[in-house]
Amino acid sequence: MSKLRVAVIGAGSISEVHFNSYAKNEHVELVAVCDLIEERARANADKYGAGKVYTNYLDLLADPDIDAVSICTWNNTHVEISIAALEAGKHVLVEKPMSTDLDKALLLQDAVKRTGKKLQVGFVRRYSSSAKVLKKFIDAGDLGEIYYAKASILRRLGNPGGWFSDVERSGGGPLMDIGVHIIDLCWYLMGRPKVVSVTGNTYKKLGNRSNIKNLDFYKAADFDSSKNTVEDLANALIRFENGASLFVDVSFTLHAKTPRSTVEIFGEKGGAEIEPDFVIVSEKHDTILNMHPQVNYPGFNVEEAFQNEINHFVSSALGLAELISPVEDGVEITKILCGIYESSIKGHEICF
Ligand SMILES: NC(=O)c1ccc[n+]([C@@H]2O[C@H](COP(=O)([O-])OP(=O)(O)OC[C@H]3O[C@@H](n4cnc5c(N)ncnc54)[C@H](O)[C@@H]3O)[C@@H](O)[C@H]2O)c1
Repeated sequence: MSKLRVAVIGAGSISEVHFNSYAKNEHVELVAVCDLIEERARANADKYGAGKVYTNYLDLLADPDIDAVSICTWNNTHVEISIAALEAGKHVLVEKPMSTDLDKALLLQDAVKRTGKKLQVGFVRRYSSSAKVLKKFIDAGDLGEIYYAKASILRRLGNPGGWFSDVERSGGGPLMDIGVHIIDLCWYLMGRPKVVSVTGNTYKKLGNRSNIKNLDFYKAADFDSSKNTVEDLANALIRFENGASLFVDVSFTLHAKTPRSTVEIFGEKGGAEIEPDFVIVSEKHDTILNMHPQVNYPGFNVEEAFQNEINHFVSSALGLAELISPVEDGVEITKILCGIYESSIKGHEICF
């Protein structure tokens, strides 16, 4: 089988798991790296054996020896780089959030249709083994109709700084960065129902708490805490056409006792927690059962989920698999995220 020739655009913090996962896929040849900062691109090209280094993504896309790209740049550049890549004949794996703007998301959807190239959205939580197993149970009807989901990622200290805290480049704070993951995971497990309305609140009460010492957290490659124009907490209630609802809250900073990450879904025949543990809840012979499916990684394991995500992208690009997280899903999630910000600004529910 011929190898997929891959390039990575954006060689900052998250690119490391992309590089490591491509390096472990026998059907991939890593050929080029691009970053605005040449030394950063070169250091990764040297480490992972990619021969070519670029600082302008348009030059990289003009290279006919590249079949596919991972886009790991600032959020506000995802759509522009993705469309250029598709038009240059490359398959695309674009990091989340796919877009920070609904109109731009729709332009990207058009570009996918026009070019016929594959675009996979980096909704990495869909690719964990626990999500895959739970989806099988749900699809088999074991949980019945799912009518409620509830998800939180509450960081008490975890604003990654740099561009993440600059709303112009990130599109928003914890909602855009981590809310996107859990909203998508719940929506996907609920069967991707059509969204009909959202009510959201965002707060800028605590700033980034850069005064706090003695606790480590994920940081952008160009970490800088001096600028912060994003919210530090967001919550939302999302309603779907089938009557189901999803409640979410996410924070970069909050006076919480401990950081927490929980994702739960509830159906007529059973429920499930997929983070922090993997538990399926049911009832038999008048007794409630908490069942613990045995998988290698019962919680969310970053390396495992990314390896699965990258392997799936490679298979799709080689024509061996159907996409699990296509552009249409990216559009629907963009609609939800933008609706939550709009609701927060206007102070009322947004109906679609
Ligand atoms: N899936 C996940 O769990 C996950 C986790 C972290 C970050 N991300 C996403 O990955 C993306 C990157 O995040 P990060 O933490 O690596 O940020 P980062 O700041 O560490 O790295 C971003 C890199 O992109 C480069 N860059 C920006 N614009 C560019 C352009 N036009 N051309 C070439 N290079 C450019 C920057 O110089 C920087 O090196 C973001 O969209 C973020 O939301 C996803």
